[in-house]
Amino acid sequence: MVDHASNNTVLITGGAGFIGSNFIPYFLDKNPSINVVNLDLLTYAGDLKNLEEIEDHPNYTFVKGDICDYALIKQLFEEFKIGGVINFAAESHVDNSINSPAQFIKTNIEGTFNLLDTARNFWKGKYYRFHHISTDEVYGSLGEDGFFTEKSNYQPNSPYSASKASSDFLVRSYHHTYGMNVVTSNCSNNYGPKQHDEKLIPTIIRSAIKGLNIPIYGNGKNVRDWLFVKDHCIGINTIYNEGKAGETYLLGGNNEYDNLTIAQEICAILDLNFPKISGSYKNQIEFVKDRLGHDFRYAIDASKISNELGWKASENFDSGLEKTVNWYLKKYQFY
Ligand SMILES: NC(=O)c1ccc[n+]([C@@H]2O[C@H](COP(=O)([O-])OP(=O)(O)OC[C@H]3O[C@@H](n4cnc5c(N)ncnc54)[C@H](O)[C@@H]3O)[C@@H](O)[C@H]2O)c1
Repeated sequence: MVDHASNNTVLITGGAGFIGSNFIPYFLDKNPSINVVNLDLLTYAGDLKNLEEIEDHPNYTFVKGDICDYALIKQLFEEFKIGGVINFAAESHVDNSINSPAQFIKTNIEGTFNLLDTARNFWKGKYYRFHHISTDEVYGSLGEDGFFTEKSNYQPNSPYSASKASSDFLVRSYHHTYGMNVVTSNCSNNYGPKQHDEKLIPTIIRSAIKGLNIPIYGNGKNVRDWLFVKDHCIGINTIYNEGKAGETYLLGGNNEYDNLTIAQEICAILDLNFPKISGSYKNQIEFVKDRLGHDFRYAIDASKISNELGWKASENFDSGLEKTVNWYLKKYQFY
């Protein structure tokens, strides 16, 4: 373990959400000398069931609370002698940010500020790590070709991505102004177990098996680069432990698919493993009114993290999608 993690209690925020709850068990396993304090407000998006496998782990503590609560954050830093932060907590659903942006501004910007500023005050003279989890959406939208790199301009288009961009800038400024040991990782769309039902892939699976229309925005041609959540967790652990202070790392799965193709692939998996009495699940696909300001395409060039830290996504998309479908079938009790 490198110096920056020598104080061994890490505050992980938003650990009851999709990525955080995949990450914490992996992180505890890979870093046996580290204690984790998971601070999560348990909004509609957080679920402690996602963490049942580690709830009795001796190195794990859960605290219900808000990253916007400055007094609570200060108390946690003092009580647990926090020596590292990994900040997952966020309002994360683009559609919600279009309908009601205020909470995105509060949690994503003010909450990140609270964490940074408490760390700055508490860690005086210490070089502990602050790892901020962000998104490729801060870079805006691509055309038919090209890739986002760490040098791409920030051009956020939704209130969600604008709030994440703002938090990224705050993190950056705490490195440049105060010399804090920060890293930021911006990843593409994650898929895998434990994602909230509101997101695209769970919505497709749930709608399909419940016999409902499978809603696809616009013409279904919007492209995302899909990253299996386990690969993302491996990348975060690598960056937290080995990333260079002040740097940004992009993570992508090298799996570009449009939304319609994703829906068709999921239907094909269901047709094979869970066939309907007649016809294909594909017949349930329905095009619905497009999302406002819907970005056309995101794609990541992950060569920096690959060259500098040796990380590369390894999950094959077909097998990752099959694992994901099976996990949701169990969740929805179809097996
Ligand atoms: N899911 C993706 O595809 C994706 C892609 C790129 C980046 N990200 C980023 O990764 C991080 C995690 O995303 P996710 O998909 O797991 O999100 P999620 O919505 O599943 O989980 C967010 C978690 O944060 C908690 N939370 C929300 N507000 C809080 C607050 N004020 N204080 C404490 N906890 C709070 C929620 O209860 C929930 O457990 C986010 O920062 C997101 O922007 C996600």
